Amino acid sequence: MAEWIASRGGPVAGRIEVPGDKSVSHRAVMLAAIADGRSCIEGFLEGEDTRATARIFAQMGVRIEAPSDGTRIVHGVGIDGLQPPGASLDCGNSGTAMRLLAGLLAAQSFACELGGDASLTRRPMRRVTEPLALMGAEITTAEGGTPPLRITPAERLQGIDYASPVASAQVKSAVLLAGLRAEGETAVTEPHPTRDYTERMLRAFGIDIEHGPGFARLRGGQRLTACDVQVPGDFSSAAFALVAATLVPGSTLAIGRLGIDPRRTGLLDVLRLMGADIDLHDIRTGAVGDIATLAVRHAPLHGIDVPVACVPDMIDEFPVLFAAAACAEGVTRIRGAAELRVKESDRIAAMANGLRALGIRVDEVEDGADIQGGQPQGGEVDSLGDHRIAMAFAVLAQRAAGPVRIRDTDNVATSYPGFESQMRGIGLGIDGAR
Ligand code: S3P
Repeated sequence: MAEWIASRGGPVAGRIEVPGDKSVSHRAVMLAAIADGRSCIEGFLEGEDTRATARIFAQMGVRIEAPSDGTRIVHGVGIDGLQPPGASLDCGNSGTAMRLLAGLLAAQSFACELGGDASLTRRPMRRVTEPLALMGAEITTAEGGTPPLRITPAERLQGIDYASPVASAQVKSAVLLAGLRAEGETAVTEPHPTRDYTERMLRAFGIDIEHGPGFARLRGGQRLTACDVQVPGDFSSAAFALVAATLVPGSTLAIGRLGIDPRRTGLLDVLRLMGADIDLHDIRTGAVGDIATLAVRHAPLHGIDVPVACVPDMIDEFPVLFAAAACAEGVTRIRGAAELRVKESDRIAAMANGLRALGIRVDEVEDGADIQGGQPQGGEVDSLGDHRIAMAFAVLAQRAAGPVRIRDTDNVATSYPGFESQMRGIGLGIDGAR
């Protein structure tokens, strides 16, 4: 099991681009695989999660070439051209892969099984199997609604009008992907708008889809046409360098080619409320949302009550927000974030336990925490195999009084290959060990 020793480095400085967006990379492979024709994906995330998705489609007969790092040529087989896989489909650590594939595969004419690693096998899947069952899909879970998912071919799927009880892009996407092969119309509304990459990308692949903040609707029976995709840098990956530069005195950092979709950048709003100094330059329109260069300088932070309305727009950024809050003056109060308990780990508990081990006071509640900013000490923390917990503690260590040993860091490769060396290159103190 790999671990890091992270400690204070120099000021964070330079100009970087971060790896491709994970959500967009997954969807690009999925849609290209079931489209008619050849699609080229550039900026594809070479992470374990997205590579697992590509492998799954290869297992179902889709030819995918990788002529260079970050490029995939996908020879789409059409919506009815996937072949039965010979074995269980391994989604690795990825909830996005499993939940979107549940929708996409529910309407295929063959049986299959979706499995994953120890973390994914603990995560709730009824949030997708229930709406898919309403459409006529036949999917079983393990007791407790967890993976593996076993999909039996359904006679036919029926479109639904689904009011999702949870603000989840994965749930919305699963239902829409099943809707592509369902009879009639499929519509989804959600309690708070979530990332709309599935909707935008379906449209780019030629699907007639109506969508706006919090709703989407499409007609079944349409085919997808191949489309080239340029994947922007992942804001959720950039968040680590962004917070590190904010925390370390003397820092100035630029992050180029960055996706800045408003459904992903809630952390920017929250950090600015805490006093951060962040600008966006060279904003231009990309296929899946705006792209910009982000410039950040060190600034002292103060605690705030995180607006509950910002929570879904920064759902993946809470680990690093906990790190920022630990170094801010005063208390940061997080509420309305119960979803964090069912991510790759229970992220509220993982961050609260790690911060306490470093001498920071944290009061946990079911849907959030109160974090009393202070001087983090050195010590030992467990990432619980969660990539974002490991990276968040590496950032926090840049302000700790002594070295921080971070256990179980292998899964950083699921979303941010090369994190350690890229962060060292801009001044962070991180050493790897096995
Ligand atoms: C994702 C949606 C979010 C997010 C995850 C990626 C996606 O999950 O946390 O990292 O690509 O659709 P939920 O849909 O569970 O909120």
